[in-house]
Amino acid sequence: MPIIDIQGMERHYEMASEVVKALDGVSITVEKGERIVLLGPSGSGKTTLLNCVAALDSPTKGTYDFDGKTVPRLKSEEMTTFRRENIGYVFQFFNLLQDLTVLENLLLIQELSGGRDKKRALELLKLVGLEDEIDRFPAEISGGQQQRVAIARSLAKSPKLLLGDELTGNLDSNTSSMVMEVLVKACETEEITTIMVTHDEKLTKYATRVIRLDSGKIISDEPTGN
Ligand SMILES: Nc1ncnc2c1ncn2[C@@H]1O[C@H](COP(=O)(O)OP(=O)(O)OP(=O)(O)O)[C@@H](O)[C@H]1O
Ligand SMILES: [Mg+2]
Repeated sequence: MPIIDIQGMERHYEMASEVVKALDGVSITVEKGERIVLLGPSGSGKTTLLNCVAALDSPTKGTYDFDGKTVPRLKSEEMTTFRRENIGYVFQFFNLLQDLTVLENLLLIQELSGGRDKKRALELLKLVGLEDEIDRFPAEISGGQQQRVAIARSLAKSPKLLLGDELTGNLDSNTSSMVMEVLVKACETEEITTIMVTHDEKLTKYATRVIRLDSGKIISDEPTGN
């Protein structure tokens, strides 16, 4: 059974004089453990698709099953529960809480999603190479280190699916390679499926599959051989 089964997804935005079809009939099935890079020009619908996959947004048309169950839509409480139980999300700007240490940033997320587990938090920080920085504050570590904290934090609640929107968009190319390598290793170890949105063609080397969007439609969908 695929972890994601999306058929004919559309997301319309009603503007004053027209309807924008940000997604215009997207169908994708994703198997567990796939690492997908989603590419496309600005405005092609990448963030819209990711937000619908995360149940941060509801599609206008189409079906979306996750792990064999219909994903709730337009009911914010059920959508929040779905997200909390299944989805980790990493953004371009790391969104760490500045007055909590690296370790406390992970412990807080665990508390919000069911229970503090310091041993696992420490394991994850080790997995992303930050075992020596656990007591520092975000302002006391580099951008690449902060993004690795954000990755560890998104894994702390054991999501089935990790989503990233331009998660290396704010990093130089060496740092972004390091962050991507950490992410690939962490997702392989934790058997987590990932979908990463980017403008950076170089990131396709970390993917098992590359999907290209244009004007709200999939224009190619190919395995990479990784
Ligand atoms: N809240 C909104 N209201 C109206 N139109 C929107 C809204 N959000 C997105 N759109 C439109 O939907 C389309 C897809 O936007 P989206 O943000 O998904 O693009 P993107 O591929 O993520 O672009 P970028 O690479 O610039 O982040 C665009 O035409 C955009 O203008
Ligand atoms: Mg976007």
